Order: sequence, then C-alpha cells, then structure tokens
Amino acid sequence: MQSIDNEIQLNFIEKCRQLVEERSAEAGRALTYHVETFGCQMNERDSEKLRGILENCGFISEKSEEADIVLYNTCTVRENANRRVYGRLGTLHGYKRKNPSMIIGLCGCMMQEEHVVETISDKYKFVDLVFGTYNIFKFAELLYNAMTSKGQIIDIWNEARPTVEDLPAKRTYAFKSGVNIMYGCNNFCSYCIVPYVRGRERSREADEIVCEVERLVKDGVIEVMLLGQNVNSYGKGLETPCSFPELLRKVCQVPGIKRVRFMTSHPKDLSEELIKVMAEEPKLCAHMHLPLQSGSSRILKIMNRHYDKEKYLKLVADIRAAVPDISITTDIIVGFPGETEEDFEETLDVVRKVRYDSAFTFKYSIRTGTPAASMLDQVPDDVVSERFDRLLKLVQENAAEVCARYEGRVMPVLVESVNRQDSSLVTGRLENNFVVHFPGDASLIGKITDVRLDECKGFYYLGTEVR
Ligand code: SAH
Ligand code: SF4
Ligand code: F3S
Repeated sequence: MQSIDNEIQLNFIEKCRQLVEERSAEAGRALTYHVETFGCQMNERDSEKLRGILENCGFISEKSEEADIVLYNTCTVRENANRRVYGRLGTLHGYKRKNPSMIIGLCGCMMQEEHVVETISDKYKFVDLVFGTYNIFKFAELLYNAMTSKGQIIDIWNEARPTVEDLPAKRTYAFKSGVNIMYGCNNFCSYCIVPYVRGRERSREADEIVCEVERLVKDGVIEVMLLGQNVNSYGKGLETPCSFPELLRKVCQVPGIKRVRFMTSHPKDLSEELIKVMAEEPKLCAHMHLPLQSGSSRILKIMNRHYDKEKYLKLVADIRAAVPDISITTDIIVGFPGETEEDFEETLDVVRKVRYDSAFTFKYSIRTGTPAASMLDQVPDDVVSERFDRLLKLVQENAAEVCARYEGRVMPVLVESVNRQDSSLVTGRLENNFVVHFPGDASLIGKITDVRLDECKGFYYLGTEVR
C-alpha cells in the first residue's frame, strides 16, 4: 500500500518537474518557492518535507514571499497564531495581483478546523490550495492539480491513514534534523486543540526510525531531535514492542550520531527507566523540556494533566539527582479558566523551586471545541496580563542566574552558523541547547568543538575556542 502511494507521488513530482521546466522556459527565469512555518518542531519538520518536494519539482528557494508558490504551514495552538496568518494573507494577495500565476497554498493544523476552511473559501478566494495535516504526503499531487487548474482546491482529511514516509526532505540544517517518532496526541489536555487537528497518537516502528537516522547520518547529520507531542508514551500499538527509553538506546547506538535530543516529555508518563537512560547514555543531551502548564494541583486536575505539583517536583528532583548538570526548561499557561491568585502563586512557587533554564510562558487562549473553552469562569484579560508580567519577570531573573553557572568552563559546542550581526563570530549550541558565540569561521559549521565559556550575557555566552 505504502509503496504504491509512494510511486504515485514520485510520478506527480516528475509531472510537476516537466511543467516547471516548460513554464520557466516561457518566463525566461527559474520558478521560485517560499515556505513559511508557524508553530512547533513538528511543523518545521513537515515544512522540510514540503520544501523537499518543491525542490524536486524544480522550484528554487526564495527568501521573500514574492515567489511563484508560497505555502503557509499553519499552527492553531493559540489564537494569535491564526491572526498572524490571516494578517499576512492580505500582503500575499498584493503579490498575486502583480504575478497572477502565483500559487498561494495553506496547510497545517489551522486547516483542520472547519470554520477556518469556511472562511478561506468565502473570503480568501485568491488562495489556490488548502490541505491539512493528514494528507501532506500528497502534496506533489495537489501541487500538480493547482498548477493545471483554476479555482480553489480544498483537500482536507478527517483522520490519518497509513502514509508514505520516505519522500524527499530539504533540511534547514545540513548537520541536524528532526525525526518524527510518533504523530498525534491522545491526552486531551482540556485547553489544547492539538488532539483535534493532529488526530490520535500513532507511533512509528522503531526499526523504521533507526533506518531514517542511519540515512540521515550518511547524509551528514550528527544531531537528531526525536519529535512527538508526548514522547514518553511512545510505543503503544507497535508490531514490535519498544518503549521510549529502548528507542533512545537504539538511536544512540547508530554509528556516527553524536547528539540525541527529544521533545516533548509529558510529566505524567516520564518513567524511571527514562531517567536511567539519560544518566547512562553520553550521546543523550543533558536537556529536558518538561512542560509544567500550572503549579496548582487543582488547576492541573481541571487541565487533565494527570500529575500534581508534588509529583512534578519529585520528578525534577529525581532527574537532577541522576543527571546533575541537566538543564530543565518548561511551558507555562497563565490565566486558565478559574485560576485564582492562590493558584497562580503555586505556579510562581514551582518556578522558584525548579529554577528553570528557560520557560515559554503563554496567556491562556480559548480554542473552540476544547472543554476549557466552555468553562464559565474565564479570567479577565487585565488579570491575566498582570500575572503574565509577574511570571515573566521571575522566569527571566531566574534564567539569568541559573544560566551563568557554566561561566569559565570548557564545553563542547555544535557550531550552527556564522553570527548574523558579527561575521567574525560563529554561533553554536551547548548540549543543553544554550547559545554560544565565539570567534571562528564558516569552516566550523556542523562541527563539535571545545569552547571556554568566558562570559554569560543572560541568554547566551561569549566564548573562545580551545584547541
Ligand atoms: N505536547 C506538548 C505541548 C504542545 S503545545 C505538551 O504536552 O507539553 C505547546 C505549548 O503550547 C503547551 O505546552 C502549552 O503550554 C501551550 N498551549 C497549548 N494550548 C494552549 C492554549 N489554549 N492557550 C495557551 N497556551 C497553550
Ligand atoms: Fe496538547 Fe496536552 Fe497533547 Fe500536549 S499533551 S499536545 S498539551 S493535548
Ligand atoms: Fe501548532 Fe500544530 Fe504544532 S497546532 S503547536 S503546529 S502540532
């Protein structure tokens, strides 16, 4: 089944390639594409697949949005993600007036919401192509249809079907890559729309994942980030049983891989075995993103998170005992329905106790269709804003102090790019994801080198390479 689907798509890539050749000959220039990603690492990875298909069709990457095909891979986890997309469509319409054969496409999580697709088909008729999260593998076919017909094409599936995995991908970085280990989510946290737009949790077979990592290594990759909404529940329903810690061991054994990361770890499913692997596997990066959401056990219950403040703090203590230098980061929502000042104080208390390296803080955003959207005790905006500011201040104070703890040490840095502001510097990351700038040149990109961390600047280090 998979290979037939794969062949069909490869055929469409070939047909698109011929069309692109003809049209660029007519136009007397190469045809260009621009893919813009909103949202999380899953979407980033999906965009790499979209770019891979576009490049195989013969389109050339273009930085600006004045391209022959522009695709927005959308996110809907909070309302402002949606607003940004609608806001920018106006600008795209302007470009399309100048270049009428331009194709505008929308895909990703936002497109899995009925009201969004209705709005696009009623009010944004200049959008040519709309598809969702489940049929992204069909992009070559949809693109061909959009290039050969007029009018809006809308193709949204309501659930996942077995799909093809090994279509081309164009990676943002040559030396690191995301790898999907599972799709969807079964947790239904009461505020969250992800389970509705990404469907039920599906794990990929471990040997398939290992093969993908091996292929990536052959292609120059030394760091992988294993991706899933709740990686700790990886492995349910597999033909060959494998838990997440077992998968980590397998991936770390792939020759040539130097760093392994993962995201996201849900506290409710974090096992002792995972902590053990973290302590034992030197290739596993000493970084844990452990979303808290709220420090109040009462709110956590209504959020349907299945852990309480005490369990969370115990986990953090256990992780730190096993991996002393680990950097812990988190996500926190402020102003969930019914959150009182006391509940919020509990969140501040956890932040003070854990002392996160960094924390993503969000104002609660109502998502239509989720249980929390119909809760009656929504918190007024001014109260949310005031709490948000207090939390942010605490998080920043903490982070600045905590992050300085490596000052003076020599640590390995994976170099990612030449520094954008100062081309005499390169920029890379420590194992714990912290950013380091130091004197160097482009030949270091993709390499791991030892750097003395001379000075912590709050959110990054300045250093010197030690050879
Ligand atoms: N699967 C991950 C989270 C993915 S969404 C986990 O369970 O931890 C990324 C973050 O967006 C969440 O951790 C949460 O903090 C935030 N988020 C999700 N829904 C939200 C909403 N309705 N309002 C505000 N923030 C939200
Ligand atoms: Fe959303 Fe919860 Fe699933 Fe994370 S675990 S994606 S927050 S429902
Ligand atoms: Fe957004 Fe979809 Fe990710 S809603 S956070 S892009 S799974």
